[in-house]
Amino acid sequence: MKITILESANCIFGKNLKGKNVIVIDVLRATSVIVTALENGAKSIYPFKEIESAKLNCKNGLLAGERKGLKITGFDFGNSPLEFTREKIQRKDIFMTTSNGTRAIENSLGADNLYIACYLNVTAVSKKLLEDKKDIVILCSGTDDKFSLDDSLCAGIIAKKISEEADVQMDDFSLSLKRLAELSSNIEDILKDSKHYSYLKSIGHEKDLEFCTQIDLYNIVPQYIDGKIKASS
Ligand code: MLT
Repeated sequence: MKITILESANCIFGKNLKGKNVIVIDVLRATSVIVTALENGAKSIYPFKEIESAKLNCKNGLLAGERKGLKITGFDFGNSPLEFTREKIQRKDIFMTTSNGTRAIENSLGADNLYIACYLNVTAVSKKLLEDKKDIVILCSGTDDKFSLDDSLCAGIIAKKISEEADVQMDDFSLSLKRLAELSSNIEDILKDSKHYSYLKSIGHEKDLEFCTQIDLYNIVPQYIDGKIKASS
């Protein structure tokens, strides 16, 4: 099995995704929101790159998203997983747009399977990939088309978990993230000086940082099919 980790949302352009599983990661915070919202009973999540497309397509659903980490004016939710409680979202469709995460998802269309991962479901995703036995491309959303430590460490953990159970081939970049994961015991400690982590802290999202850095809180694996994301069976 081959594992390729890509460092930011646009790095997937030009890659042949046929026959492959793609996993999109945006730990802070889009994919943590998606996993939490589906865990809490949301019906489907529709991801969009652009604010206007989310608004146009949102008929009887809820609008969610951020720009620069802040809730978009007129939207029902921002991009904090803690907002997506069962009471507010059960059986609801959510139309979501974020700066990097939903863009990474849209950029990944064409894969055999497109899954959504973060620390909250990292073991469940790894198990799914081991069952599927396809070559794997892990797309870190990154921040503004740059490497982001929060996503990359999560990708490294998936690579580590899979290589513990199967023979894998990796390039040196992917291997270095797997090695980082092997050497890391405290996620928050590793991330604390990183750019997006520090930015979210500076605008008052400390609670999200605590929440999003928890490992294996949930067991679901969201999958994108035909424009929407649902928990995979
Ligand atoms: C993104 O998609 O760039 C993020 O989820 C930004 C954020 O932290 O809200």
